[in-house]
Amino acid sequence: MTKRVALVTGGNGGIGTEICKYLATSGHTVVSTCVDAERENVRDWQQQLAEQGVQVDWVECDVADFDSCAAMAETVLARHGQVDVVVNAAGITRDGFLHKMARHNWESVIATNLNGAFNVTRQFIEGMRERAYGRVINISSVNGQSGQFGQTNYSATKAGLHGFSMALAKEGARKGITANTVSPGYVDTAMTAAMPDEVRNQIVSQIPAGRMARPDEIARVVDFLAAEASAYINGANIPVNGAQFTSF
Ligand code: CAA
Repeated sequence: MTKRVALVTGGNGGIGTEICKYLATSGHTVVSTCVDAERENVRDWQQQLAEQGVQVDWVECDVADFDSCAAMAETVLARHGQVDVVVNAAGITRDGFLHKMARHNWESVIATNLNGAFNVTRQFIEGMRERAYGRVINISSVNGQSGQFGQTNYSATKAGLHGFSMALAKEGARKGITANTVSPGYVDTAMTAAMPDEVRNQIVSQIPAGRMARPDEIARVVDFLAAEASAYINGANIPVNGAQFTSF
């Protein structure tokens, strides 16, 4: 069992919750970020996890805002001393064809999904380098690998996240720090539930596995990458998509 400290952005989301459970079960001290604890009922969420034997701390933070991330880091480091694992799982969609997309829907998706990974990871990377240990895991998407109708903004951020992983992998490789990407396919969460029914049904009908992923099927891969023994997996992009998108 590890004693490492893991921070999961958006850890109270559909995939994030399962990531928190997996990381806690493998021994990590787990801290989740949320934007607004009151609105997101985070205390209830924490209580429900506690009833399942999973202890998770949380802190408010808007990953799109660098100063908010700096304040979050100060709180987390004061409570837990260090952060060894960062999972950038916070993400939003604002779908629409480019010819109809409002500028704010482009900017908000870039700010949260892509700038968020910088704003959060930047707070902890120096500590990881000093201690010569770190795991950065970025949650991308099949739609960052293949593109998707209505998602020029989202697909750009999810492709960009893997560029971030690959570059950071090189920077950290001699410092005990790995940076990897997990690219889920369509996962059964509130995000996919928000899609128009006919669009979702049409997409699911084309997934070779014949169904969406369960959040735990993504989380177990994150936990695997977070492990100390995964030291030589660095700069990888692991698809977990039921064969929806395959490439060399
Ligand atoms: N495949 C094929 N054709 C598609 C399509 C698709 N996935 N999506 C849209 N189209 C086609 C439509 O059939 C339609 O064609 P016609 O003009 O010939 O009728 C045309 O594009 C316009 O589509 P809409 O009438 O639906 O246009 P709209 O402006 O009302 O909405 C849209 C467009 C926003 C893209 C909407 O279709 C939509 O929400 N699609 C879902 C996008 C999506 O997959 N989002 C993923 C959310 S979950 C997620 O992001 C998690 C993750 O990582 C996987």
